[in-house]
Amino acid sequence: MEMYEWTADLNLGIEVIDAQHRQIVQYINDLTRAISSEDVDDVFDVMERLRDYTLDHFAFEEQLMNQAGYVLLSAHQMVHRRFEDKIARMQEELTSGRDPFGIARRVRTSLMAWLIQHIRHEDVDYVPVVKKVLKREESWINSSLKRIFGNSTSNA
Ligand SMILES: [Fe+2]
Repeated sequence: MEMYEWTADLNLGIEVIDAQHRQIVQYINDLTRAISSEDVDDVFDVMERLRDYTLDHFAFEEQLMNQAGYVLLSAHQMVHRRFEDKIARMQEELTSGRDPFGIARRVRTSLMAWLIQHIRHEDVDYVPVVKKVLKREESWINSSLKRIFGNSTSNA
């Protein structure tokens, strides 16, 4: 299985968000590694970290959009909630015991496809509005990052 590579065309030009998106891709690649090494506990473990990180990322993104007064916030939130449901279903399927590696393979492909299309079609829309608020409120961003991610921001 090939590893996914972050490509420059996926950058939104907002470093704090781009770094989080890159981290999600890293988790997807960790999942690939866990599948390749046929370590089922590792697969479950990575999946859990991937989910937690993605949820934190959504929370951060939503706070940023909210702070920026982004008009499509509630629509974007709905897309996030739907995706969270999808992840929960994937996780249930994964831990159901039937062919975990096969399921994990599908999970990684579908996570990556979702992320790319979400960045290109939904995230891209908030960029101009959020960029403005970022310039104005750097200290707010930092405290929000700390609140949501705790001390794990250093690797985000
Ligand atoms: Fe988003």
